[in-house]
Amino acid sequence: MNFALTAEQIEMYNMAKKFSEKEMIPYASEFDQNSTFPINQIKKAWELGFVNTCIPVEYGGNGLSLVDAVTVGEALSYGCMGMHTSIMCNDLALTPIVVGGSEEQKERFLRPFTESPLLASFCLTEPGNGSDAAGIQTTIKDKGDHWVLSGEKMWITNAGHADWFVVYCSIDPKLKHKGISAVVVSKDFEGIEIGKKEHKLGQNCSDTRSIRFNNVKVPKENMLGGPGEGWKIAMKTLDHSRPLVSSIALGGSQRALDLSVEYAKERKQFSVPLSKHQAIQFMIAEMKMKVEASRLLIQKAAWLADQGEQNTTIASTAKAFAADSCMQITTDAVQIYGGYGYSKEYPVEKLMRDAKLIQIYEGTSQIQRLVIAREVLGK
Ligand code: CAA
Repeated sequence: MNFALTAEQIEMYNMAKKFSEKEMIPYASEFDQNSTFPINQIKKAWELGFVNTCIPVEYGGNGLSLVDAVTVGEALSYGCMGMHTSIMCNDLALTPIVVGGSEEQKERFLRPFTESPLLASFCLTEPGNGSDAAGIQTTIKDKGDHWVLSGEKMWITNAGHADWFVVYCSIDPKLKHKGISAVVVSKDFEGIEIGKKEHKLGQNCSDTRSIRFNNVKVPKENMLGGPGEGWKIAMKTLDHSRPLVSSIALGGSQRALDLSVEYAKERKQFSVPLSKHQAIQFMIAEMKMKVEASRLLIQKAAWLADQGEQNTTIASTAKAFAADSCMQITTDAVQIYGGYGYSKEYPVEKLMRDAKLIQIYEGTSQIQRLVIAREVLGK
């Protein structure tokens, strides 16, 4: 067993960390307060090869493994969890094409993303169906030479900036997961209505909107797999993307830990630095334990996927653990900073607000526990 990253992975991590310190941290607070979409950061990250990590080399991608991608993901999220959600969103949206697309579809849809910094959104959740993904009501009707797509999606990351959408829909909602299909839809297709930008608690720079598909005509050749094959594609995509989302939590946790250590060493109370008080030491130790355990779970979930093995349970374990840890760690960071931590003048309150979303999106912490319990107990 070897826990060491390769020389290339260390180089990639250092490059991403430098990028996050230079291009993300200085803008994070301002972008959060003004809800500014980080388009320049996305473009620069694309130039460095940090976007679209899932695209295989055959279609112009960098051929990164999932372990590579989570290593980069941790470093970028260290700079800003919200910005990295927007950077990572393409991986979530394009993985269904990697997983379920034909050779022709992969060439047609993936290659353009390697040639210019296009954006894509993953459209699964609806106003009435989040955790119950099989309950989606958006329909796709066969009209002979094309499909017609109708329905509404909710909480769609990057929706206002996406060039392409991967949309989950049903040939018949009564069939539940057996009816779900996946289609690739251009923003230029007629009948697409993008909703207003949502005002959120945190991750404010990332763009989150609803999308309505009003009888949108979709070419037959844009369906991934066949009718009813979308569910397996969605589940396999989440197996791949949950370690990536967990790396967002890890980056935020590491940042909160580093900031807490720095502050605990310089802030004095009762004539000694906070770091000399056992109450603070225990909080810091707890943070460190959770960061280390999160990283190992994430790396294992990613490594299993790279071996071509089923990683569903460990991906859910990593997601629940890293997200819940990030919430606890960032909340404790605010506690260590005291009154200053509650102020927007200091970076830790933003970390706490950003962390909350990771317990909700890409499957809530409760859904991850459901997946784990089903594996442990049997259905
Ligand atoms: N791989 C392959 N097959 C899988 C699978 C996996 N990981 N997970 C389940 N399946 C299969 C099951 O074996 C079963 O197959 P059979 O029909 O052959 O029996 C089938 O799929 C149905 O599975 P379940 O009975 O477990 O389905 P369910 O309806 O009970 O729910 C769930 C499963 C895990 C709870 C699922 O609904 C789920 O993951 N929900 C959360 C959805 C989610 O993560 N949404 C986030 C959206 S992304 C996002 O947040 C957007 C963003 O922009 C950030």
